[in-house]
Amino acid sequence: MTPPVTQRATAPQILSRCRDLVRPALARTVRQLHPWHGEITAFSLGWDGVDGGEIPGAQGKGVRQALAVLGAQAVGAKPQSAVLGAVAVELIHTFSLLHDDIMDGDETRRRRATAWKAYGTGPAVLAGDALFAQAVQTLADAPGPQCVRAVRLLAGTLNDLVRGQADDLLFESRPWTGPEAVQPHEYRLMAEHKTGSLLGCAAGLGAVLGGAGRTEADALTAAGRHLGVAFQCADDVLGIWGDPAVTGKPVHSDLRRRKKTYPVLAALAAAGPAATELGALLRGGGPLDDTAVRRAAELTEDAGGRAAAAAEAHRHLESARACLDSVPLAPDALDEILTLLPYVVERTV
Ligand code: IPE
Ligand code: MG
Ligand code: MG
Repeated sequence: MTPPVTQRATAPQILSRCRDLVRPALARTVRQLHPWHGEITAFSLGWDGVDGGEIPGAQGKGVRQALAVLGAQAVGAKPQSAVLGAVAVELIHTFSLLHDDIMDGDETRRRRATAWKAYGTGPAVLAGDALFAQAVQTLADAPGPQCVRAVRLLAGTLNDLVRGQADDLLFESRPWTGPEAVQPHEYRLMAEHKTGSLLGCAAGLGAVLGGAGRTEADALTAAGRHLGVAFQCADDVLGIWGDPAVTGKPVHSDLRRRKKTYPVLAALAAAGPAATELGALLRGGGPLDDTAVRRAAELTEDAGGRAAAAAEAHRHLESARACLDSVPLAPDALDEILTLLPYVVERTV
């Protein structure tokens, strides 16, 4: 008789299983916040209030919490051992988005107003601070011997994350071309810091809380960091060519603000008429109107920037796989992590 074929879980199924596992602890933690911060957090998480259900389409994908859960399972621990780590990374992710939307001046996220638009800048900053503090407290209060390692990993991550955000902002005032222009290797480091640090922390925290040795935890952290750079390249592509009805973010907002994203940097680095015209367009002083922004997107694509960003994302996915290959991991959890990797890059939202 043929043995039953076990169906591999799809990426959305994996994400949903992990979200369901983490949700009760996340809700308990959000309820501990000041009620005002709890309300802003619930709004940011796409919940209908602190005690409410999920508002369809207003949630994040939950990649970070899933990485934490799978990180623990990959080192042979129970998924439950990662729950507080998953809660901490979700809180930090929410904090970082609250502050990021203010820094970026973005008015919509996940098809809704951003928290600063809905509640005001002061309350959104403060709610972000509250989430930061609550994340640290969650790990500091975690039972078991791994608590200090976990807090240390989170602290290093936070340092990296704000370093990346600082570079991202500073890049905005650097010239597009010439010797002072932002180089691809500078972009990569910025992306590893602002995005890779938290994805790496998620996988690493799962491993640490699951009692992993240093080598396994470091390999999972490094894989998550590579995934983060791939994620950011994909995010940059969506920021220019994504459908705002699907991404829930404003169309072309990165280009309009002359943000230094990978597709544009790669396009400018390519020689040829499209790159030259793009450089001239972006160097011009005033705000880019709709026509100029559309033209900039076209030129970026013509000069190969979109393809280069996709190729960069795939290179980092390969590096993530190599990190995971370098240590012995539980095959089922490893399979699920490997299922998530391409999903994160090929997403449309
Ligand atoms: C967000 O970076 C990174 C952090 C919040 C740390 P971006 O500004 O590039 O991301 P989106 O497009 O607003 O999500
Ligand atoms: Mg942003
Ligand atoms: Mg930003």
